[in-house]
Amino acid sequence: MASPQNVPPGPVYPMWVIRLMQAMPFKTRPDSMQVAMDTFKRFGDFACMRVGHKLVFQISNPEIAHQVLVTQADQFHKDDLINRSLRPITGNGLLLSEDDFWRKQRKLAQPAFHHKRIEAYATAMVEETERVLATWQTDQPFNVMAEMTKLALNIVARTMFSADVSDVAARVSQLASVLLEAANNRVALFTTLYDLLPTPNKRQEKQALQEIDALLSQIIRKHRARGTDNGDLLSMLLAAKDEDGNSMSDQQLRDEVITIFLAGHETTAVTLAWAWALLAQNPDVEAKLWAELDSVLGGRPPTLADLANLPYTEMIIKEAMRLYPPAGGLTRTPLTDIQVGEYVMPKGSNVFVSTHVMHRDPRYFPEPEKFIPERFSKEREADIPRYAYIPFGAGPRICIGNAFAMLEARLLLATIAQRFKLSLVEGHPIVPELLFTIRPKYGVQVVAKVRQPALAPA
Ligand code: HEM
Repeated sequence: MASPQNVPPGPVYPMWVIRLMQAMPFKTRPDSMQVAMDTFKRFGDFACMRVGHKLVFQISNPEIAHQVLVTQADQFHKDDLINRSLRPITGNGLLLSEDDFWRKQRKLAQPAFHHKRIEAYATAMVEETERVLATWQTDQPFNVMAEMTKLALNIVARTMFSADVSDVAARVSQLASVLLEAANNRVALFTTLYDLLPTPNKRQEKQALQEIDALLSQIIRKHRARGTDNGDLLSMLLAAKDEDGNSMSDQQLRDEVITIFLAGHETTAVTLAWAWALLAQNPDVEAKLWAELDSVLGGRPPTLADLANLPYTEMIIKEAMRLYPPAGGLTRTPLTDIQVGEYVMPKGSNVFVSTHVMHRDPRYFPEPEKFIPERFSKEREADIPRYAYIPFGAGPRICIGNAFAMLEARLLLATIAQRFKLSLVEGHPIVPELLFTIRPKYGVQVVAKVRQPALAPA
């Protein structure tokens, strides 16, 4: 282990503090977003926390993030924390696999995300949105986070697996929440009581996993039985053969499918939920959005071709992901000792690139707490240092669904905002919570009112 002199300064948490925290239910533990922000304020953008005998590096410096995620990416793996918490759910899918095996799987999946294919997804995205909007009741409070989750699930199932899950979407998003919470309970640097005891949560997780697995294997079975190549991701995975001509094992297929299913909906849903909350709190931004939508679309549904003319819509999405990056941080572990300036990140330590803290650094984002989409205008975006804004990560492990998600978020925002005004239900708390994704802890309760778009100029 590196000697204390060659790691950057940071807080020290003795083992007894950790044990005390571990004895607390996850929900009552200190807010990890606040802990990260406090560490940044006290120790700067490269800090080393000593947690018992573990070293945990917190990075919110764009150059060091670049080194970890891009230039020396091959010197890192995903760390034990994320593996311990997610592997029981997603197995060896794309998010957690490593090295040559990961490279092979990523290459296999990549064509499903090619920009030519993504364009074809646009129609499906708008159609699914219209389908959900047809069920909305005006003047009655509802949780828009739950609506966005169902919608994103329908879209990922239809575009990636040619499956219709609309009648079970509400149930599936409930199950996904159970899994996410269980995964969070396992986020701990040391073995906890939770790992050892057969808690009711664990039984719930097992049941949720069985139910989702049953749904996904039904989707795979139907797809196989049809035997046609739909050009979707599942067709590509089913058709894949290794050098010896063997198909992917059923277990690996399941791991890849559940990874895309979970990673492909929660993050986009969270982005949109935050966008709605922020728009409702910032009527001047909302008015500018409507002006853009009305002048470009004038009430008709958006198409892919319209997106080039909807720059403000895009700025809103980017700014929402700055304030609340769906993936609040990226975790890694060095495979060898890594030199960073005068310091060393030793092999086996935990490295946490905190997007949340970096996205709120006033050096890169003046008045960081404010919702100012104009930061992402063409002229001003160029002033943001390259790796200071990384909601999709960076380097070889950058989100494979990056372009898909940006397409989806813009189309959904445009489709919904031109038809409805969403107002927050008074008194309902909007509180961020880091549960892998930065979610609104109590959802986003809104009331929808129909709005009449102004007609587009001829
Ligand atoms: C706003 C939406 C999204 C955000 C903010 C987001 C964010 C991220 C981030 C930060 C990573 C990198 C994690 C790391 O480096 O440790 C990642 C990886 C990944 N994302 Fe996304 N994601 C989004 C949407 C999607 C969608 C729509 C899909 C699929 C349909 C998807 C599938 C994946 C997969 C499979 C990986 C692992 C890639 C690899 O390691 O090769 N994501 N995502």
